[in-house]
Amino acid sequence: MSPIRANALLNNPSAAEPLWHLLGVGSLGTLAANRVLAAGFSLRVISRHTNVQRTLYWPDGRHWQATLTLAADEPIQRLIIAVKAGDTVAALTPLLPRLDPHCHILRLQNGMGSLDSIDLPSQARRFHLLTTDGAWRKGNQVQVVAENRTLIGDGLSQPPSWLAPLAAHWPGLQWCEDIDRAQRQKLALNAVINPLTALYGCRNGALLDGGPREAAMQELAAEVDILFARLDTDWPMDTLARSRQIAVDTAANTSSMLADIQTGRVTEIDYINGYLLRLAAGQGMALPAHQRCYDRVRKIEQS
Ligand SMILES: NC(=O)c1ccc[n+]([C@@H]2O[C@H](COP(=O)([O-])OP(=O)(O)OC[C@H]3O[C@@H](n4cnc5c(N)ncnc54)[C@H](OP(=O)(O)O)[C@@H]3O)[C@@H](O)[C@H]2O)c1
Repeated sequence: MSPIRANALLNNPSAAEPLWHLLGVGSLGTLAANRVLAAGFSLRVISRHTNVQRTLYWPDGRHWQATLTLAADEPIQRLIIAVKAGDTVAALTPLLPRLDPHCHILRLQNGMGSLDSIDLPSQARRFHLLTTDGAWRKGNQVQVVAENRTLIGDGLSQPPSWLAPLAAHWPGLQWCEDIDRAQRQKLALNAVINPLTALYGCRNGALLDGGPREAAMQELAAEVDILFARLDTDWPMDTLARSRQIAVDTAANTSSMLADIQTGRVTEIDYINGYLLRLAAGQGMALPAHQRCYDRVRKIEQS
């Protein structure tokens, strides 16, 4: 290595990083693009469009405007996936020949299981990001609603070298050793709150009605706990209490599933309640309350 390059690496660790790629330049993808670029990494975006301009607006009045560079057909070593879970197979399959055998894949999505049917390189590291950030997009404009906490992990104890420089520019980004447990905990909440808000057409807080909505929460939460307790002997059996707390803390929020239903989009229920149903079937279990919600949401989607 030349002395100049060695000095550059010492002064700027991100200079050692390969190119990053982003698949899905929507609400969360645009926020991720801003943070990756702020960390000093080079970024290419994979889009269905020939020109990707975005303006991000923060609640405090700041904004950021960028024309993002489109990927060519270069190899992919770092890939953030920020398409909706149901679009993953179609979006990722054409990229498989370009994935480096040791690539790092960062899944920035709700739900679980979107990569299950995809044949990724066996030595690829798969990171899962669980975020409570919020953003929405209209055309090329993305409004940040909240920057909270994002857990990241891949089940290994050692974070990758790019985490520290990225976390310096990604508010609330934290390494999580037990990302599997964290994913299940988030999935459990989503599987209770999302379908019920979508079916009742209500905001999160309106689930706490002291009547049928709360009874439905109780039923869904109990089924999740029975399933996850079978897979995880330390499962805390607290899905109902945590769901109630989320309904209080985010009372005025519209869940993503309700928003998808209201805008006529396909929901991510296949990767939330649908994932639970597949997992339960593998254990020889039925989850009748989740099955009912799943069927009803699918029916609304198709109508
Ligand atoms: N938004 C939030 O506040 C939030 C919060 C927590 C978690 N999440 C999760 O984050 C994930 C992304 O959500 P989002 O709200 O950012 O979705 P989004 O705004 O709908 O963005 C998805 C992007 O994926 C792109 N896309 C779809 N198929 C593609 C393909 N084949 N090739 C290239 N690009 C493709 C879409 O491109 P087009 O522009 O061409 O349609 C769109 O820009 C979801 O799993 C969501 O549940 C979102």
